[in-house]
Amino acid sequence: TPGVRPLIAGNWKMNGTLREAAALAEGVRAGLDRVAGADLLICPPFLHLHVAAASMGWKPVAIGGQDCSADANGAHTGDISAAMLADAGCGYVILGHSERRADHSETDTLVQAKARAAIAAGLIPIVCVGETEAQRDAGEAEAVVAAQLAGSLPPDFANAKGVVAYEPVWAIGTGRTPTEADIAAMHGRMRAELAARFPGQGEATRLLYGGSVKPSNAAAILALPNVDGALVGGASLKAEDFLGIGAAV
Ligand code: G3P
Repeated sequence: TPGVRPLIAGNWKMNGTLREAAALAEGVRAGLDRVAGADLLICPPFLHLHVAAASMGWKPVAIGGQDCSADANGAHTGDISAAMLADAGCGYVILGHSERRADHSETDTLVQAKARAAIAAGLIPIVCVGETEAQRDAGEAEAVVAAQLAGSLPPDFANAKGVVAYEPVWAIGTGRTPTEADIAAMHGRMRAELAARFPGQGEATRLLYGGSVKPSNAAAILALPNVDGALVGGASLKAEDFLGIGAAV
């Protein structure tokens, strides 16, 4: 998208040890020069944020969480607040990933509440949407994603520079990706939805694609209209692959 600097975000999910997190973050930091055309972001597990942030040199927007509570503080055993993430060095937080929607029954309403909490704490939310394979086969993919956007994005989302990640559930960790035409069509639809809801700002909202992105397919995907970066899972666990995706912008 003209005027929008791409973002390559790595979602480490529930992988690795403290030592491995430090080494992976250090590997990314050491190769930052290879990535001239995009911002890089890593999203380690909560317990690894601190060592990863230290390895990245405490760059404010280089680190993100993978979830946060919708509440600011208090009696929520096991939860992490957006303010805690900001305090730990995060600039972003991934919200509403399909794995959280599936594993923890997260609804659009809850994801929107979490996005509000993230924005209130000064974080940029990366809100994930995407259809299942059955929904795509039924021809419902665009309608499903449009409904997720309508329900999951708070009113100040675009003003807060919120990011949307389109991740078709059937493309996550499978090695399968939609066709380039299908990605372009979905991102065009998302752009239209955002521009209609957030006039003057939704035109420049970053729209990421996620699902089996790797160095070999990154250049083609990242060149598509309205694709402003990638949310990378498996390939973000190797610094070389993650940097290779960033260098493909
Ligand atoms: O959030 C990124 C993710 O769900 C994509 O995973 O392993 O297909 O790149 P992967």
